[in-house]
Amino acid sequence: MSEPARTRKPDISAGLDQVEKFATILLPRDAEEPILAPGPRYAIYEWLTEIRARPDLESVGLKPRSTALLYGPPGTGKTTLAHHLAARLGLPLVTVQADRMTSKYMNESANNIGQLFDAIDKIKNGCVLFLDEFDSLGSKRSSSEHGTDKDRNLTLTTLLTRVEGFEGILLAATNRKEDLDTAMWRRFGMQISVDLPGSEERYAILKRYSLPFEFPDDALDTLADLTAGASPALLRQMMEGLKRSIVLAPRLKKPIDDVVEVFRGLVATTVPHPDVPQPHLWKKFDACAADLRTIPWPPERAPAEKKGGAK
Ligand SMILES: Nc1ncnc2c1ncn2[C@@H]1O[C@H](COP(=O)(O)OP(=O)(O)OP(=O)(O)O)[C@@H](O)[C@H]1O
Ligand SMILES: [Mg+2]
Repeated sequence: MSEPARTRKPDISAGLDQVEKFATILLPRDAEEPILAPGPRYAIYEWLTEIRARPDLESVGLKPRSTALLYGPPGTGKTTLAHHLAARLGLPLVTVQADRMTSKYMNESANNIGQLFDAIDKIKNGCVLFLDEFDSLGSKRSSSEHGTDKDRNLTLTTLLTRVEGFEGILLAATNRKEDLDTAMWRRFGMQISVDLPGSEERYAILKRYSLPFEFPDDALDTLADLTAGASPALLRQMMEGLKRSIVLAPRLKKPIDDVVEVFRGLVATTVPHPDVPQPHLWKKFDACAADLRTIPWPPERAPAEKKGGAK
């Protein structure tokens, strides 16, 4: 009999409780791999290799880089990527919502930053620190030295010092890169763009989130073309909506035999934010009807996997 697989459990009690005031802890087992363009995918692969090669790097007087800034539009997978990277290192992700660190009281935000980094340093078995919505902490320095401006500048200076001296693994994410302070930007060992997906990535994202329903390659290509400009989060929401419509149709007594009407209902309730460019399927739905009709409908459902694995 083979041995049961050993799961590595991070020791949550060893210091993590101190950071719970500011942070949410995400465990490796809950991580999901984002589908990324070759650029960011390779950057993460290279970084993981570098982190694991610490002794070899140290032997030539180098250290692995320990900080990276992820920037890109909303819903492109920055948080998912940070969680995935931590999971690849077998570490929990300590996710700090930056607005939980800020305070209207003088010096309090800077104190919170100090407390957070001190608590992170004490975590015995390591973790990956993730500063989400980073622009709300690391926004541009003000030229004024009065009141709230002075306090914001102090917060920024504290953050610059702590990020620069940080020895663990730290990721920060923003979808407002233009608001970030330039000195703060430079403090990161890497700046990685996590942009909207190209057609190959959209194809893979649509395929992943349509499972267990299966669409032929041509149909996925068509959908990938019609959704150019959509974020992965929007594609996921759309495909999950599609599956929901199929499964619930009998209960809702809502016919789903017309593919165009199913998609019309989906795009009406899965709407990209009005400030972002609207993909074709949303902008000119009626012009997409002929392409939608080429999709074999309803989709086939993949046979359920046998428990225990087929021999
Ligand atoms: N590249 C991707 N591949 C697969 N799924 C993705 C990808 N990006 C996002 N998703 C899905 O979309 C949802 C939102 O993703 P996530 O929170 O990681 O985006 P984000 O870039 O952090 O957004 P925000 O800037 O709003 O914080 C998640 O459920 C995730 O599964
Ligand atoms: Mg996020």
